[in-house]
Amino acid sequence: MLFLKNPQEAHLQCLTFKKEGKSIGFVPTMGALHEGHLSLVRRAKEENDVVVCSIFVNPTQFNDPTDLAKYPRTLEADRRLLESVGCDLLFAPQEQEMYPAPPVLRFSFGHLEQVMEGAHRPGHFNGVALVVSKLFHIVQPNKAYFGQKDYQQYLIIRQLVADLSFPVEVVPCPIVREADGLAMSSRNRRLTPAQRREAVILHQTLQEAKQRLLNGVSVEEVKKWVASVFAPLQKKDIRLEYFEVADGYTLSAVKDIHRHKEVVLCIAAYVGEVRLIDNVLLFS
Ligand code: PAF
Repeated sequence: MLFLKNPQEAHLQCLTFKKEGKSIGFVPTMGALHEGHLSLVRRAKEENDVVVCSIFVNPTQFNDPTDLAKYPRTLEADRRLLESVGCDLLFAPQEQEMYPAPPVLRFSFGHLEQVMEGAHRPGHFNGVALVVSKLFHIVQPNKAYFGQKDYQQYLIIRQLVADLSFPVEVVPCPIVREADGLAMSSRNRRLTPAQRREAVILHQTLQEAKQRLLNGVSVEEVKKWVASVFAPLQKKDIRLEYFEVADGYTLSAVKDIHRHKEVVLCIAAYVGEVRLIDNVLLFS
């Protein structure tokens, strides 16, 4: 596996792949890799001639400096994992090279960014769109792979690609879960063993909420039920930030699930200091 830190060198290497007639599958990450990321690399490997993975903890998408400081950084272990799944090029730039000067460009994604993660993490999707655009310019991928755990991010990137005509196919990939159902996340490693056991409540709540909605319980009632599940958990330092039932394409609020082709149930909660998100689709 090639390992490059310099954006120009990575760009030239990707152009060389292209000149050799090779298609590029791209997996952008912030490192602290787990099975979820590796599943993206494996899929990219199946569908392309070469796979490029980036590791960059992107400062512009963190609205909370503590979260940025505490984000796990495990480059050497990540490098070995990527090698083991046959990644062809790892691109891991330094902050100074990605942002030689503070960026001034601002994206606006309308309603897509005004709810859920966008509402609770101001500027987050601006930072995501900025870095993904830069990475797409550097890597020039044919296909780029994104986990559906970050469902809103996936929709934002799809919009970015459509509006800016990036010649990239955005491939959404299913959430990979631990045996008890907890969605895999780099943040999980910050949980204590006790918090790790409790964290499964996000998945359990989504599953039960999905069942209730499919059984005909109204969105309003299900939202009240979710709030009642989390209220007593405050004493265990588990705090619900939001639970939303949204249209699967536009993220507009859903009142009646039968009026939508796809509906996504999204949840965000703090387990101790660690903020976790998860989601489930209603009809697929
Ligand atoms: O999903 C992530 O890990 C990040 O948001 C991404 C897409 C790599 C951009 O920094």
